[in-house]
Amino acid sequence: MDLEPEIWDIGYLIASILFILGLKKLGHPRTAPTGNLYGASGMLVAVVVTVAQMNFGDGIEGTVLIPAGLIAGGIIGYTMAVRVQMTGVPEMVALFNGFGGAASALVAASEVFRMINNGTIPTDWLTFHVAWIAIGLSTLVGWMTLTGSLLAMMKLKGGFEIFGKWYRTPTWGPEWLNYVKGIFLIGIVGLIYMSLEEPGNQDYVIGIIVLSCILGLLFVLPIGGADMPVVVSLLNSLSGVAAAFTGFIISNNVLIIAGSMVGAAGLVLTNIMCKAMNRRLIDVLFKSFGGTDKETVTRTKVGSDPDEVAMICDGISKCVIIPGYGMAVSQCQHQVREFADILEANGCEVKYGIHPVAGRMPGHMNVLLAEANVPYEKLIEMDDINSEMGECDVALVVGANDTVNPVARSGEGPLAGMPIIDADKARVVVMVKRSLSVGYAGVDNDLFYEDKTMMLFGDGKKMMTELISSMKEL
Ligand code: TAP
Repeated sequence: MDLEPEIWDIGYLIASILFILGLKKLGHPRTAPTGNLYGASGMLVAVVVTVAQMNFGDGIEGTVLIPAGLIAGGIIGYTMAVRVQMTGVPEMVALFNGFGGAASALVAASEVFRMINNGTIPTDWLTFHVAWIAIGLSTLVGWMTLTGSLLAMMKLKGGFEIFGKWYRTPTWGPEWLNYVKGIFLIGIVGLIYMSLEEPGNQDYVIGIIVLSCILGLLFVLPIGGADMPVVVSLLNSLSGVAAAFTGFIISNNVLIIAGSMVGAAGLVLTNIMCKAMNRRLIDVLFKSFGGTDKETVTRTKVGSDPDEVAMICDGISKCVIIPGYGMAVSQCQHQVREFADILEANGCEVKYGIHPVAGRMPGHMNVLLAEANVPYEKLIEMDDINSEMGECDVALVVGANDTVNPVARSGEGPLAGMPIIDADKARVVVMVKRSLSVGYAGVDNDLFYEDKTMMLFGDGKKMMTELISSMKEL
């Protein structure tokens, strides 16, 4: 930043404008792809400007390592993005949050070790304190984000494999764990203070790294079930905060701006997720909701066949389709759309009820339905669709479970208090899923056993295809 700062700053300004425009456009599904393009272009401008202003020197560090890192990172990121299944995207997002935190923390670590080893610790009181506190906070938030995100990723996957044996990711959070977290946090603050007192001692930095890694695990360990969306968006926000702190350490304006924007956008998303779950953030973090083991289902229900369901759907005037994670697993969004087209051709009004945490990532259902060219106007948010459920003839629930589970209204268990789509208020409920098994939060669903509910047992794509054939034969 010392050479011709005005030129680099203009580049960074363009990148920041592209980020802001991108974020704005991400606010609506129709403009979101353009928003994504703006954001990616902003990042490209930021990388090019940063590389262009580097003083590579004579060593191998700059000339070989930086291009090698860019190429390796580009290839790994591209391969992961191309190969990931739609159902694996949430885990990949969690992993990338962790990588973001780790990247910031590694830059902070390399800067502090460089200054200690080269004897270039700032002598000016203010510069030194700003740099050392920023290093401490970037280390704390960055390493916490890495380990927390890795654990969150395993929780989203449901477990991890070692030598071919599958282990379920633990969810464990007695009340006293909060005190342990508090002790770790006080320990880290103490180490940051000690590093200010004795800046040349790198043991303090190593201590902060170790304690922060453990703290990240302790924070995510108790959170599970339906509360995972909240923790994933919070970790996303933290990865931005770590980047902003690192921006202060290396005096990089675009890192400060981009990091602050990720931090703020992540907090807004966390707030939306909390509202969707009817939780307070503080309760999610410290009360260990949603972390119980999965319930064993003991009740039974006789399944219906597609011909019966087609007969019920023939001649109805209003149908609400409620998609969930199972639609993403079976990739049956095109069949769902085709079924809706048949109903509409018969004069039936069809709408889609979208729960904010349906699936495994924010906007999961919107993305899938947009892929099947379902008009955006037909995707109705939870509160709005609930006001219409009383007039609905058939609620077709495709692979959703927790988001329509009436037990959430009872105030007990992991889903307690979570708002749901009131599928049970429709005259007939048709549920497409493979079995009576529980959803992500592990809670049995009374809706399956109601007299008005018809269970279409089977893979979503197979059952929707058979339902379409039955409708066509009528
Ligand atoms: P879930 O409650 O997870 O239920 C999905 C259902 O899909 C399962 O019960 C499963 O039943 C069925 N299914 C799976 N594969 C299927 C297939 N091939 N064909 C048909 N059905 C299939 O889904 P939901 O209602 O969308 O709720 C989402 C849950 O995930 C919430 O608890 C939410 O908090 C949590 N979560 C959400 C997010 C975000 S941000 N959206 C992130 C993390 C966690 P069978 O096994 O019987 O088929």
